[in-house]
Amino acid sequence: MLKPWIAYLSFLLIVSFALSSAAETSFDRETPAERDARMKWFREAKFGLFIHWGLYSVPAGEWKDKKDYAEWISEQAQIPMSEYEKFRGQFNPVKFDAAAWAALAKQAGMKYVVITSKHHDGFAMFDTKLTDWGIMSTPFRRDPIKELAAECKKAGLKFCVYHSIMDWHHPDYAPRRPWNDTARGEPDMDRYVQFLKGQLKELIQNYGPLGILWFDGEWEKTWTHERGKDLYNYVRGLQPDIIVNNRVGKNRQGMKGLSKGREIVGDYGTPEQEIPADGLPPEVVWESCITMNDHWGYNKNDHNWKSSTKLIRMLIDIASKGGNFLLNVGPTAEGLIPAPSVERLDEIGAWMKVNGESIHGASASPFAKAPSWGRVTRKPGKLYLHVFDWPKDGKLSVSMPPPAGKMPKAYLLADPRHKPLPISANPSGLEIFLPPVAPDAAASVVVLEVTDKAL
Ligand code: GLC
Repeated sequence: MLKPWIAYLSFLLIVSFALSSAAETSFDRETPAERDARMKWFREAKFGLFIHWGLYSVPAGEWKDKKDYAEWISEQAQIPMSEYEKFRGQFNPVKFDAAAWAALAKQAGMKYVVITSKHHDGFAMFDTKLTDWGIMSTPFRRDPIKELAAECKKAGLKFCVYHSIMDWHHPDYAPRRPWNDTARGEPDMDRYVQFLKGQLKELIQNYGPLGILWFDGEWEKTWTHERGKDLYNYVRGLQPDIIVNNRVGKNRQGMKGLSKGREIVGDYGTPEQEIPADGLPPEVVWESCITMNDHWGYNKNDHNWKSSTKLIRMLIDIASKGGNFLLNVGPTAEGLIPAPSVERLDEIGAWMKVNGESIHGASASPFAKAPSWGRVTRKPGKLYLHVFDWPKDGKLSVSMPPPAGKMPKAYLLADPRHKPLPISANPSGLEIFLPPVAPDAAASVVVLEVTDKAL
């Protein structure tokens, strides 16, 4: 009799179908606790290094009579692809030193590194087997992504990649640019997605586990919500604990970067060149990415550097609002991080060495409004008062209810002995008496030990 046999077969089919569809949707069904566990390292890290490095560092921002380009140069100057491809012959970054880059990030107090494995020009900075449009076809013939991944792991930094969805070079990417004179045939986005997924698989399998997959270039019409969802599930299928930014899907609200929509794809918001004006609900995870000068990729004429003080205050401002700071550098075609960037990272590192406790693992300020003198971060039992403007009369006012019992203890984080600073209470709050000179002109941190559970 055939019947039981057929019944058994169809039973097997149903079971395997149920299992495979469960696997497909399991990421949507992540519980809040599972999500929190996955996002934990990222929320605590607070500070990361963004690296925009690619073939565009060869022209270094210049084409014909214009000097204001960077990683967008091939598109903005409409360089024929056959011309742009020639930069390959000049890309030989022999001064690249992955260990030095990892050490620089680490001493700056950063906890993760996000490097461009591929920017919008489609040029792979890693040893991909899926195209010869990449670093292995240059005289350099080394794999900087492999080297940096190894050094980051050694240094205890999470290694992450930025991988562009938009691709001006690939013949299947649509819309094809009219100046892409090397692509043949008709573009086909479905085939392009297969290529994109193939490269992501190489990245996750050969360089992983990755901390974050940082997508970008999702704004063109050919990239849809459905494609975003599918890609999100694809990369999480390859590495379930990976974190994916919201530029995988279509929910980002412009440069403000936060997600909006019925069905949100991606794990966190990505404000670009801006810091949200106010704090956001604690469940919103976000990371502001910001340049040190005015370009992401290397531009040899851009000397408009932000000061270290400004950058340190940005880091504090972001932490006080519950976000992360992804600070960018654009290395040269020789493989060097520009000296002004190194200088700033060293200065931020010196500040972090003394004050890092007030940033790493800290959460947003409990106060709705930032105080006039600076910003606040907190950890259980402690408020960190980041003083930007050292009060001339030596009194730091903190508008919080005076304690019912014992006065809280206050001390300077820069003081290794934690010598208590005098405090008094008045009806509008506390007053902390500070020494006449600020320990750090950029920001000095006063720790206030609090017992109030509400804080
Ligand atoms: C962008 C740009 C880009 C840069 C990125 C960083 O939207 O296209 O060149 O890589 O943002 O956030």
